[in-house]
Amino acid sequence: MSVSRIAILISGRGSNMGTLLQACERGELPAQVCLVLSNRADAEGLDNARRAGIATACIAHGDYPDREAFDAALVRRLQQAQPDLVMLAGFMRILTPVFITPFAGRLLNIHPSLLPNYPGLHTHQRALDAGDSEAGSTVHFVTPELDGGPPVLQARVPILPGDTADSLARRVVALEHEIYPLAALWYLQGRLTLNQQGAFLDGQKIPPSGVPYRPQDAVRHDAADRSNQQRPC
Ligand code: GRF
Repeated sequence: MSVSRIAILISGRGSNMGTLLQACERGELPAQVCLVLSNRADAEGLDNARRAGIATACIAHGDYPDREAFDAALVRRLQQAQPDLVMLAGFMRILTPVFITPFAGRLLNIHPSLLPNYPGLHTHQRALDAGDSEAGSTVHFVTPELDGGPPVLQARVPILPGDTADSLARRVVALEHEIYPLAALWYLQGRLTLNQQGAFLDGQKIPPSGVPYRPQDAVRHDAADRSNQQRPC
């Protein structure tokens, strides 16, 4: 498999970006990160990417008169980097078709809820307030509907007595670090596609809640080891 090019968009901490960088460095993903792009100059993840020797750029949304002008600037910069796959990883701007159309079918997002539940913000608190027994995260293709594109992969965690939005977020993000590289791997292997009928893995239509995540499929060796340890004797 030839080395593909991944661009990652962030707005903050960038821990998902970090795991994608690591997966590329370790050879677990047959890809290089060609650009990390942020709308915020102070995004912690930008510094980490720079330290890792990755090309970075900041395009501040406040410098543009409207969403479309900002999105057009993002597209121009991304097209210079020639990505095969664009991954939103905590990118906190609503994107318009100006951005989404040029990258349709090669644009993924990770959202910290069991979509279609809780699109938008404050997902963990909303799951707690609703008395849900489970929370989780979903990787999905991006379409113009906010957090509404076809799901690809979904990981679940139980909600435990005494959980807060923060404690839940910590457990969910740990699983995100397993599912986002896996979805990227499927895409880069040509196994994951999007067409008018929806998202497909190995030619099979993916169900509306995404493929259920199995830890033994993790691309990270340490995650796979953990799943072996959890397997009953
Ligand atoms: C993640 O929980 C992701 O699901 C959401 O934003 C958060 C980003 O976290 N879209 P990080 O910046 O990758 O640490």
